[in-house]
Amino acid sequence: MQPKYLYIHTIGCQMNVYDSEQMAMALAPLGYVPALSAGDADLVIVNTCSVRSKAEQKAFSLLGRLAEAKRRRPDLMVAVGGCVAQQEGGRILKRAPHVDLIFGTRSIYRLAELVRRVESGRRPIVDLEMGDRPVELTGGEETADGRSVSRFVTIMRGCDNFCAYCVVPHVRGPETSRSPEAILSEIETRVAAGASEVVLLGQNVNSYGAKEGLCTFPQLLERVNAVPGLARLRFTTSHPKDLTDDLIHAFARLEKLCPHIHLPVQSGSNHVLERMNRRYSREHYLDKVAKLRDSCPGIAITSDMIVGFPGETPADFEATLDLVREVHFDGLFAFTYSDRPNAPSSLFSEKVSPRERSERLQALLELQDGITLARNRALEGSVQEVLIEGFSKRQASGSRPQQGQPQWTGRSPGNKVVNFGCRAGSEAGRLIHAGYRVSIRIEKGLAHSLWGVLEESQTVAGRPRQEVGHAA
Ligand code: SAH
Ligand code: SF4
Ligand code: F3S
Repeated sequence: MQPKYLYIHTIGCQMNVYDSEQMAMALAPLGYVPALSAGDADLVIVNTCSVRSKAEQKAFSLLGRLAEAKRRRPDLMVAVGGCVAQQEGGRILKRAPHVDLIFGTRSIYRLAELVRRVESGRRPIVDLEMGDRPVELTGGEETADGRSVSRFVTIMRGCDNFCAYCVVPHVRGPETSRSPEAILSEIETRVAAGASEVVLLGQNVNSYGAKEGLCTFPQLLERVNAVPGLARLRFTTSHPKDLTDDLIHAFARLEKLCPHIHLPVQSGSNHVLERMNRRYSREHYLDKVAKLRDSCPGIAITSDMIVGFPGETPADFEATLDLVREVHFDGLFAFTYSDRPNAPSSLFSEKVSPRERSERLQALLELQDGITLARNRALEGSVQEVLIEGFSKRQASGSRPQQGQPQWTGRSPGNKVVNFGCRAGSEAGRLIHAGYRVSIRIEKGLAHSLWGVLEESQTVAGRPRQEVGHAA
C-alpha cells in the first residue's frame, strides 16, 4: 500500500490529545502515516476545542490557512473534528467551503469509513452521530507520534454536570465510562511500548463507573496501580463536589499514584459558585484541601479559575484572591469568562466588561506567580525523583550548565517540570535516558520550573525509553 501522509492539528485539552492519537490509529489501516508538517500531508485534520471563544477562533483561522494550501493542492483532504465540529456541524462549510469532512466527538470510530468515502469522491461529509455508547477502537497499535514516556488514557467521555458556563456537556454528550478491562488492556499495551506513566482522563473522574455499575474510581486506581512495569499514575480532572475520602486516602495508599491533584475551584465566592452551578461551597473546597494535605503531606494542588463570570462583583473577586492566598496553589490556570453556545450563563445579564475581566485576570495571575515561585523555591535543597522525558529545549535561566553537557527535562512526582544537568566533569550523563527515574537535588526554584543536578550516589530506576523493543 502506497503510504499517505496525515497531519493533525490538536487544539484544546488532554482529551483532544488522546483523541488525536485515536484518529491516527483509526486511519493507520488505510495506509496513513504521520507527516512532519501540514505542508507534507495528504490529509489534514483540525481537532478543535470550543471551551472558550478564543479556541474556536483558532480553529477557524487554521482552516483559513488550509484554504490557501488547498488552492495550491486541490488533492489535499481537509477534515474538522472535535468540539467545534460537534457544535457547528455543517455551518462550518459556510465559513470554510473547502472542508471535505466534518466529524463529531463520537465519530472517531467511524473515521476510517468516512475518510474512505471522501477518497472515493463524495464530499462534503458531515457525521455528528453521538450514539448511546462509544465503541472501542480495537487493535490500539502505537503510532509514531504517540510514543512518549507519559501517556494519556481516556477512561470516561462526556459530562453530566452542566456547569452554567460550560460547553463540554453539549459537545461531548452524556457521561459514559469505559470498562476497567478495556482501560487496563490499553495501559498494558502502552507500558509494553515503553510508557512509564499514565494519566487517566475524564471530565469528572470521581463519578467513574457510577452510571454503568462498574467499579469505583479508587478501585480502578488500585487495579492500574498493580500493572507491572508502570512506574507512575496520575489522573485529571476531579470535581470538588464528588471528591470522596476514599479517593483522598488513595494518595496515601497507592505507591504509584503521584502526589498531585488538579482540583478546579473556578471561584472563591459562594455567590458565584452557586450561579455557576458548581454545587459546592468555598468552605467545602477548603475542607477537601485540608483533608488532602492531611492524608498526603506535601501534595501539589493545582486549579482552574474563571474571572469575570456574569454578576461577579469586586467583592466576589476579592474572595477569589483570598482563597488563592489561603490555599497557596502550586499552579493555577486562570481564564477570563467567555460566553459559549448553549451555556446558560451566556443568557445571564450583569456581564462584566471585557476590560474589567482582563484587569482581574492580570491581578490574579500576578498573585499566583508570586505564590508559584515561593512554592518552587521552597523545594530548593530537596531531592526529587524525576522521570526523564528527554533533553531540555531551553537552558534553565539562572544556572550555567557546563559547556557541551547535555541537559535533561522531566517531571517531579508533584508534576513540576525539572530541568537538570550533571556535576562538572561527571560522566554520569552518558548513562541516563528518557524513561529513567533519577534523583535530582533541586538547586533553584524558578517561575515555571525547577533546576537541579543529578545525585550520582543514588540509584537510577526504570527502563530507558529508546531501548524498549530492542532488548534481547
Ligand atoms: N471538567 C473540568 C473542566 C473542563 S474545561 C472541570 O470540571 O473542572 C477546562 C476549564 O476551562 C474549566 O475548568 C474552566 O476553568 C474553563 N472554562 C470552561 N468554560 C469556560 C468559559 N465559558 N469561559 C472561560 N473559561 C471556561
Ligand atoms: Fe464543564 Fe462542569 Fe463538566 Fe467540567 S464538570 S466539563 S466544567 S460542565
Ligand atoms: Fe476539551 Fe475543549 Fe472539548 S477543553 S472537551 S477540547 S471543548
